[in-house]
Amino acid sequence: MATLPQPGWSPAFARRTQGASGELAAILALAAGTGMISFAGGLPDPRTFPVGVLAELTKRLLAGDAAVSLQYSPTPGLPGLRQAFGDRLAHTEGRRPQPGELMVTSGTIDAIGLLAKALIDAGDVVAVEAPTYLGAIDGFRGFQADIRGIPVDEDGVDVAAFERLCASNAPPKLLYTIPDHQNPTGITMSAERRTALVEVCRKHGVLLVEDVAYRELSFTADRPPTLWSLAPDVVVQAGTTSKTFFPGVRLGWAVGPAEVIAQMVIAKQNSDQCAGAFGQRLLEEYLRGHHLDPQLRASRALYAGRCHLMLAALDEYMPPAITWTRPRGGFFTWLSGPEWLDTTALARRARDAGLAFVPGRPFHPTGGGGNQLRLAYSLADDGQIIEGVRRLGTLIRSTMENR
Ligand SMILES: Cc1ncc(COP(=O)(O)O)c(C=O)c1O
Repeated sequence: MATLPQPGWSPAFARRTQGASGELAAILALAAGTGMISFAGGLPDPRTFPVGVLAELTKRLLAGDAAVSLQYSPTPGLPGLRQAFGDRLAHTEGRRPQPGELMVTSGTIDAIGLLAKALIDAGDVVAVEAPTYLGAIDGFRGFQADIRGIPVDEDGVDVAAFERLCASNAPPKLLYTIPDHQNPTGITMSAERRTALVEVCRKHGVLLVEDVAYRELSFTADRPPTLWSLAPDVVVQAGTTSKTFFPGVRLGWAVGPAEVIAQMVIAKQNSDQCAGAFGQRLLEEYLRGHHLDPQLRASRALYAGRCHLMLAALDEYMPPAITWTRPRGGFFTWLSGPEWLDTTALARRARDAGLAFVPGRPFHPTGGGGNQLRLAYSLADDGQIIEGVRRLGTLIRSTMENR
């Protein structure tokens, strides 16, 4: 049989997809490798999945609710789940979304894609934290955004640097930020920065996109206010149930100015049209049955224990030239080494030693991070955490000695 002449199909690819790295898929594949100790993917532990309650709810929905649960959903989401999300936001944030301010999404990646589709023309400037979530970089890049990185320190994004960009001749259309237990650094933005940030966005008319993926997985009770609760006029909050409920149903919410949400709903109409109704009904019943808070309590305790264990192992096994963040929630800690350390090469050697982590470079949208790396503690068990960090310490020491 004749085959397609070289170079195959790639000349047919859209310009906007050329150079797309597929790094996120590669990371997830690495995390799934057998026999590896993986600190790579930011995956929730299946131990937190509420299998028993889901079995019961599934049976109930199929018996009495099939006409809705198995049907298409309205594009903004089923009214019952929107109400349940609104109730939860009123409870946790002290503000209830007004009509038209909230839609159901198929998770945060969906929300980012809808925002980009609704707002971004090729060449528009989008500001993100440097480093930030790889899925967001890919999402905005897919719409040919001109992505600019804003530095972060231990209090979150550098507001003065962001304001300089806003006042430049290439101001951003939006800033995407992860204020709570950030991916990849684990850093939480201080309350002062949050207040300053919303004021800068108001002053310059820049939309603030707040990703709260890890907010509910805080190890401590003191939580600064969300950006959305501070400034619902300039903030779109994108939430996901992937890290709290389970990711297999791909669900989340977007809440923000009604005008923006309406445009996102139009964008969803010609994306996947609606989030799956079955997952929406499951989640609604789960929330109404007050099952989420006990699940969150157990998840927080599990991840806090792993985080503390990883930090203790880092204290024990890392050479003095390595520093790392001390997260107060979420899934990640972020390591920095001397400028000459090449964490991409280190990741290859680690793989040979049965250890996976993600080197820092892909998280930086405009270069840098070659001496940094991300460790996820969410999926490894206690023994793997200690052994994995020990192996990493040994590898870094031998890299330093052989330099
Ligand atoms: C900051 C952040 N946002 C969003 C997501 C993914 O959300 P979803 O599964 O809802 O698309 C992740 C997962 O890695 C993440 O780290």
